[in-house]
Amino acid sequence: MRLLNRSQQRELMTLLGPLAGKDVLEVGPGPGVLLGLLTRTARHVTGVDPSREMRTLAIRAHAVAIAAGRLDVLPGDAGATGLPDAAVDVVVAVNNVAIWPDLDAGVAELHRVLRPGGRLVLSWHGGEQPSRTSRGLVLPEERLQRIENALRARFPDVRRTLTRRCTVFEARTA
Ligand SMILES: C[S@@+](CC[C@H](N)C(=O)[O-])C[C@H]1O[C@@H](n2cnc3c(N)ncnc32)[C@H](O)[C@@H]1O
Repeated sequence: MRLLNRSQQRELMTLLGPLAGKDVLEVGPGPGVLLGLLTRTARHVTGVDPSREMRTLAIRAHAVAIAAGRLDVLPGDAGATGLPDAAVDVVVAVNNVAIWPDLDAGVAELHRVLRPGGRLVLSWHGGEQPSRTSRGLVLPEERLQRIENALRARFPDVRRTLTRRCTVFEARTA
């Protein structure tokens, strides 16, 4: 998973832009490749993942950032992050939106934890040139449209963009 998704994580960091002074939530970070990049510049990063195995890998990989108080890795999922209302400036979820058991509940929860003017970034395999390994994971347009519609039901500003390897939905709170 680390190797498969590494180029996607780099593209997302470019898309996210500067994160200085921002509190960030990553949903479903898996072993934590993106967590490592996010903690380099964000004020604070929280990673929530329902898998104990994945949390263990991420905690092991980022012990220094956790000890320094710059990162927390906690149990949670898209539908129940465990964060208070309006807790973060940015929420990012990479390669897990298509496996959330309840898309609308996930979108509502991530909207709840974002501050006004906050940004939700959902990325899935795809983009302009999907890698050979992720080609089979690209979602049909109908499923992409369902994600976009779920976002539009909550967020006033939604757009879909393609990077080289990722199909990305960006949504902003009012
Ligand atoms: C394919 S991995 C992607 C990991 C990482 N984001 C990446 O791109 O390398 C999917 C991750 O989502 C987590 N996950 C599964 N169900 C989830 C849910 N309902 N909400 C959030 N994350 C979930 C899994 O435990 C796993 O860590």
